[in-house]
Amino acid sequence: MSGPTVTTQAPLRAGVVGLGWAGDQHMRGYAAAPEVELVAMAGMESDKLEELGEQYGVAGRYANLESMLADADLDVVSIATPTALHAPMTITALDHGVHVLTEKPMAENVDSARAMVAAARRNNRVLEVTFNKRRAPEVTALAQLVADGVLGTIYYAKAGWVRRQGIPGIGSWFTQRAMAGGGALMDIGIHALDMALHVMGEPVPSAVSGATYAEFGPRGRGGARGAGSHKWSAEPVGSPESFEVEDLGTAFVRMDGGATLLLEASWAQWIEEDSLYLSVYGTDGGAQLHLPAGQGQESELIVHTDVKDMPAVITPTLGPAGDHVDCVRDFVLAVRSGEWDQHGGAVGLTRAEIVDACYASARQGSEVVIG
Ligand SMILES: NC(=O)c1ccc[n+]([C@@H]2O[C@H](COP(=O)([O-])OP(=O)(O)OC[C@H]3O[C@@H](n4cnc5c(N)ncnc54)[C@H](O)[C@@H]3O)[C@@H](O)[C@H]2O)c1
Repeated sequence: MSGPTVTTQAPLRAGVVGLGWAGDQHMRGYAAAPEVELVAMAGMESDKLEELGEQYGVAGRYANLESMLADADLDVVSIATPTALHAPMTITALDHGVHVLTEKPMAENVDSARAMVAAARRNNRVLEVTFNKRRAPEVTALAQLVADGVLGTIYYAKAGWVRRQGIPGIGSWFTQRAMAGGGALMDIGIHALDMALHVMGEPVPSAVSGATYAEFGPRGRGGARGAGSHKWSAEPVGSPESFEVEDLGTAFVRMDGGATLLLEASWAQWIEEDSLYLSVYGTDGGAQLHLPAGQGQESELIVHTDVKDMPAVITPTLGPAGDHVDCVRDFVLAVRSGEWDQHGGAVGLTRAEIVDACYASARQGSEVVIG
C-alpha cells in the first residue's frame, strides 16, 4: 500500500480485535476519543460480540481480523488478543494500510517485535504499544520532575510488580510459552520496566543479568483468586504440567552512561500484599512511587531532596487519573499528526529487547550484552 489513508479531518474509522478485558479498554478509549468512530470489533466469542457491540453501538461485528479488515474500511485498529497474535495481526493490518495500537507486551519475542517495526516502516504507518500504567498521575508527575532536573542525574532505579497470589489462570494462554512468550516478566514486569525507563528519560540499555523461577505454577499454586478487574479464573483451569513460563523473574539492567535498574516481577510470592512500585535515585533527590496493585491500596509519590542542606520531602500536586483512554487518545493524535515515522514502535521494541535479554541471561547464567 502507498500513500496516507488519512488526508482530511474526517472521523477516523476504528476497529478493535480481542473482546477480553484489554479489548474493552480500547473500545472505551475510542468511544471517548473525539473525531473517531468505533465502527468494528472482532473476536471469537459470539456472546461478547453481541454484548460489546450493543454497549458501544457498533454494528460491524466479525469473527476475525481478516474479515474486519476486508469489510470495515478501517483507518486504525487496536490489537488486544493473546500475545503471540500481536505480531501476525499487526503486520496484517499494517500491510493493509491501517495504523496499529497493540497491547503490551509488544510480542512474544524480540524477533516478532522487530518484524512489526519493519512492517510499520515499510508501510509508513503508526505502530504504538499500550503502556497504560505510566499514565497514572504519579508517574507523569515524577517523569516531569526528572525531566526538569529536580532530582539531578538519575543513576539508579528499582521497579517491580509482585503479587501474593496472582497467576492469571494456570493452564490458560498466559502460562503457555508459545502464546505468551514468557510469564510474569512479560505480563506485569513489562509495566514496571516501562515506568522505570519512561521516568529515567529513556536511557539506552547495554547489558542485562537476569534469572527466572517457576516455583508456584508447576505445583498448581499461586493462581489468582477472588474478583478482579481482569478475567482471571478463580481456580486453576489447567494442569500444573501445562505451566511453561516463569512465575518470578528478576533482572539487573545496565544503561549506557552507567545508570542501572533492578527489576522484579512475580505473579506469586510470599509477601503480605501485592506491590507495584518504582524508586529512583538521583544526584539531587530521589523518589518512591507506589501504584494500587491490590484491593484498597492507594497511590503514593514521595520525593526526597535537600533544601539548603536540610532534608525535605515534596508531595507533588497531581493531575487527573490516566489509563487506556489516554493511550488511545495519544495514538489517535499521532495518526492525526502525520508524523508517522516518529511513532514506529521503537518504545515497545526497546522493552522487548530488554525482556529478551533477561530470558537469554537466565538461560545461560551470565550477563547478556544488548545491541
Ligand atoms: N495493558 C493492560 O493493562 C493489559 C491488561 C490485560 C491484558 N493485556 C494484554 O492484552 C492482551 C489480551 O489480554 P486479555 O486479558 O484481554 O485476553 P483474553 O484472553 O481475555 O481475550 C483475548 C481475546 O482475543 C480473542 N482472540 C483470540 N484469538 C483470536 C483470533 N485468532 N482472532 C480473533 N480474536 C481472537 C478472543 O476471542 C478474546 O476475545 C494480552 O496481550 C495481554 O497481555 C493488557
